[in-house]
Amino acid sequence: MTPGTAREADVLGRLQRRFVTGSVSALPWLEPACGSGRLLRRLAARGLKAVGYDLDRDMVAYAEAAISRRGLQNRVTVQVGDMASPPSVRQQTGFAFNPWNSIRHLRDDAAVLSHLEATAVALAPGGVYAVGLSLTAPEGDPPEEDVWTATRGRCRVLQVVNWEPADHRVERAHVQTVVRRGAQEEFLSSSYDLRTYTAKQWRDLLTSSPLRSIGAVDLHGRDRGDRDLPYQFEILTHADR
Ligand SMILES: C[S@@+](CC[C@H](N)C(=O)[O-])C[C@H]1O[C@@H](n2cnc3c(N)ncnc32)[C@H](O)[C@@H]1O
Repeated sequence: MTPGTAREADVLGRLQRRFVTGSVSALPWLEPACGSGRLLRRLAARGLKAVGYDLDRDMVAYAEAAISRRGLQNRVTVQVGDMASPPSVRQQTGFAFNPWNSIRHLRDDAAVLSHLEATAVALAPGGVYAVGLSLTAPEGDPPEEDVWTATRGRCRVLQVVNWEPADHRVERAHVQTVVRRGAQEEFLSSSYDLRTYTAKQWRDLLTSSPLRSIGAVDLHGRDRGDRDLPYQFEILTHADR
């Protein structure tokens, strides 16, 4: 996911500047399900303070090593944690972000509500949570294929993701990855499930949470307006504000 990280960090910066105002905008950022920490590192390199957590110990170990290699450990910390019962953050945060459908890893309403409650506690009043989400059409989605490529030095990665249409609100991703290092080739195969949400299911779930939507924007941070988008950021803030 590394190519394009700088541009993604630019969009997050624009969202934070637009939706978080006053003294809250000086508070650290939070990334649930931070993975390799690629966005946190980029943001920290720009001078921001941030914290993140991820369920996968190997991801967190990778992120920690990459953070210290770049001398960013005073600005960004990561830990192992589950979105459904997140580790408590010592300092309040002003802007939380969770791109690329990671929230859909949570399997049921109870897990998502627990996540939103904990994130609301981690956010100072006036803080904002940007959740990156692909919503499902009420009549269901057709099978789809995503193709991703990335190159670093001599390492080239090709990843093909086939999305099986949802069954009982579970969409299965079948992932085939080819990693080439010079003449060496490695094939990896895996699959995982994501929970699906129609716009109404997402809205209904939010009504039981301490957060409410104050807008939706596209991948580049432009207002969604009336468009049906393949992917969007839902902008959430405390419901009582
Ligand atoms: C698509 S990656 C996104 C990583 C990161 N946000 C980024 O953009 O690079 C999804 C991440 O969600 C993490 N994840 C899945 N279920 C989780 C959970 N219940 N709690 C925390 N992290 C989880 C995975 O380990 C993985 O690192």
